[in-house]
Amino acid sequence: MFGTTSDVRLDDLAANPGPGLPMLAAATMAPDPDAVYRTWRAQWGPVVPVELSDGVLAWLVLDYEDIKQILMTWSVFSRDVEHWAAFQDGRVAPGTGLHAFFSPRQNAFYTEGDRRVRLRSVVDDAFAAIDETKLVRDVRTACRALLAQIAPLGQADLVASYTAAVPSLAVAAMYGLPAHLADRMRQYATDIFSNTPAAVPAFVGLNTMLAELIAIRREDPGDDLLSTIVHHEHALDDTELLDTAQMIQSAGHEMSVAWTTMTLVHLLGDHDFGTRTRSGRLMVDEALDNVMVHQSPTWHTPARFVTGNTELGGRMLRKGEAIVCAVAHATKTEHEGADLIWASTSRATLGFGAGVHRCPASRVSRIITKTAVEQALIQLHALKLDVPIKDLPFVPGLWARSAATLPVTFEPTHAPGSAQRDPVSV
Ligand code: HEM
Repeated sequence: MFGTTSDVRLDDLAANPGPGLPMLAAATMAPDPDAVYRTWRAQWGPVVPVELSDGVLAWLVLDYEDIKQILMTWSVFSRDVEHWAAFQDGRVAPGTGLHAFFSPRQNAFYTEGDRRVRLRSVVDDAFAAIDETKLVRDVRTACRALLAQIAPLGQADLVASYTAAVPSLAVAAMYGLPAHLADRMRQYATDIFSNTPAAVPAFVGLNTMLAELIAIRREDPGDDLLSTIVHHEHALDDTELLDTAQMIQSAGHEMSVAWTTMTLVHLLGDHDFGTRTRSGRLMVDEALDNVMVHQSPTWHTPARFVTGNTELGGRMLRKGEAIVCAVAHATKTEHEGADLIWASTSRATLGFGAGVHRCPASRVSRIITKTAVEQALIQLHALKLDVPIKDLPFVPGLWARSAATLPVTFEPTHAPGSAQRDPVSV
């Protein structure tokens, strides 16, 4: 099969799935994803047919150079769902998570061509104008407030009580929200990413809140990210503003949770790395880099759609098919054989994507994630992971790979104002 171009069509496979058609989430959630990809590659080669959900198929691309070609060629591999046959003919059923994720929106993530260039330039300008010193201060304050609630307890699930909360609080800080609105945004984000029915009202609630904020910033601008977007010279209309504000709130959420969580897993559970960090030979930045290169938080990039028949990795891809890039696997494979720690400084990572949709927040997200990891290590004394890394379950999902829980213990502190033990009366 590998000498010649294979002409298997996703539509034919969807009509006659047969046993053993890979599920994309199986790789994201597997304890050993490398073994999963090895099996798939042996059966299908470097471009694998995978089920996204409910009988909807996509091609999964495993090799670094092929992925770079996809990410850099938006005219052939488009983010515009108009090119996805299964979405347009109703096979991606309304009401499903997949349909909600890919429903068209007027922001840079979901559009291509001139419109994307205009929408994206607003986002790039807004991130470029961020006061990073203030961001560090705000994120540090938010992290300390969360940690102050857990510190007296002596044990916690750091995902539920900490890492999952930080990204939305950071976006709230970038939008200049006061504490009570920041907390509302955090609650909406928790529900939206909960995989429960609470997601639907939360999404509506978040959009209502963002629309109100946009109206306020229109009348009364501040020195925040949202005000920069609202008053940008490209003058986005109301729908574009709302969809852009919502994209910034949600596009990096799962990846940021994953980066923070997996860096803490690495620092607390990987004896070799943790020891080198505690002895000062390595810093949190190096742990972040290490995760980025060897287990990228972005596990698979959200699908793109083939605009015209094209050959890739020994397969003929058909107009209208969906295509997903295994960026974590490809980045890790690219560094195979290199020193585990020093390869981390490599710039050859696809963790932030590449090309026109590359993450516009790579600097900002490092600031947020680094601050979150540092504060956990500073505020929770003698922090220890409670279970071996191999026993941690992973979040069910298509795009990010992250531990679902992070059970830890630490020395409890006394909460301010709580009853202290009186040594005399013991
Ligand atoms: C506060 C944190 C973050 C924000 C506000 C943010 C924002 C965004 C936005 C707005 C986009 C869409 C860009 C476009 O399509 O033009 C994007 C794309 C992307 N982001 Fe981020 N991001 C954040 C954190 C992260 C992190 C931590 C990672 C991974 C480590 C990440 C990885 C990506 C990737 C891979 C894409 C491109 C997806 C693709 O090409 O399909 N982001 N991000």
